[in-house]
Amino acid sequence: MLLSQQQWQRLFVLSSLVLGSLFFLVVREGTLDRLQLICPIKDRLSPAGASGQILLHTLQHKQALRLKLHRRNSTRKQLRMYHLIKQLPRAIIIGVRKGGTRALLEMLSLHPDVVKVSQEVHFFDNDLTYAHGVDWYLKKMPFSFPHQITIEKSPAYFITEEVPERIFKMNSSIKLLLIVREPTTRAVSDYTQVLEGKERKNKTYDKFEELVIDTNTCEVNTKYKAVRTSIYTKYLEHWLKFFPIEQFHIVDGDRLITDPLPELKLVEQFLNLPSRISQYNLYFNATRGFFCLHFNFMFNKCLVGSKGRIHPNVNPSIKEKLQRFFHPFNQKFYQITGRTFSWP
Ligand code: A3P
Repeated sequence: MLLSQQQWQRLFVLSSLVLGSLFFLVVREGTLDRLQLICPIKDRLSPAGASGQILLHTLQHKQALRLKLHRRNSTRKQLRMYHLIKQLPRAIIIGVRKGGTRALLEMLSLHPDVVKVSQEVHFFDNDLTYAHGVDWYLKKMPFSFPHQITIEKSPAYFITEEVPERIFKMNSSIKLLLIVREPTTRAVSDYTQVLEGKERKNKTYDKFEELVIDTNTCEVNTKYKAVRTSIYTKYLEHWLKFFPIEQFHIVDGDRLITDPLPELKLVEQFLNLPSRISQYNLYFNATRGFFCLHFNFMFNKCLVGSKGRIHPNVNPSIKEKLQRFFHPFNQKFYQITGRTFSWP
């Protein structure tokens, strides 16, 4: 039977409406539940976990629900009904500041079994927040399903003396992620962050060269925090008084910038997670000059502009002096961690 022109028009309007609604739903779900639309469908069919296999659509539905309920401030009863709970972190990115901690957390959260704590909680490094107790800390955690693991990052943990003991008291078998960069580059990055903060407040700040060298001795100024933080072995040795080295995984922050996937695969293994993050989830954004995250066919995300600042030029002789200064500490760091880097 042939359709009249009017019937064709009606059919066209109707199908546009259906397609439009479908499009709206995809967009809306994508916004609510970006984590669930990140991975390619074939990768997402069997997210293994303690609770067994969950079908993709069930998992997507659950994730969307988790976020919806969270936003609506839902009642405990509702949350229990959907098996949503708050869990203390089973892994913490303890540092190091400017090592790439944000990129690592965001990239790990591409994994369907990982739930990130978006804000830095600073529970263990701040006496005031620590005094609130572990229940307060738990309240800061996002809702998750029992098979998922919660990961927090607060880079100040690595260099704060009280932190290892406090974390040990909470969970002596917790997994600890430490992301490091070539120490001199990290120090310059640290300096650049502070410099930017000063400039924003219209304040002046010394040049990097003036801060890193002690003018009295002409030696490297170990009182300058950006220098001290890059002596990784000094802090790690303190952590080792509480945790065995097997509980740490060292992430190469320089490689996370240039080739993130192999680093993420190593972290998946360390956390005993099934391999889920794939090349599909990461793409190089030439404008940003960094890898960005690919959630689905519509949603991508790059880190904020304050990640990946342009560093000031550093006098080459000062740079060399710093590299020579860090060299013996780096050797010790390789020895302790069993991971060698091609740092000068
Ligand atoms: P720079 O700003 O010096 O380039 P942190 O999150 O610990 O503060 O680390 C910030 C650093 O993460 C940045 O230092 C940047 O080089 C690095 N980084 C790693 N991967 C990145 C990514 N995909 N996008 C932006 N920055 C990234």
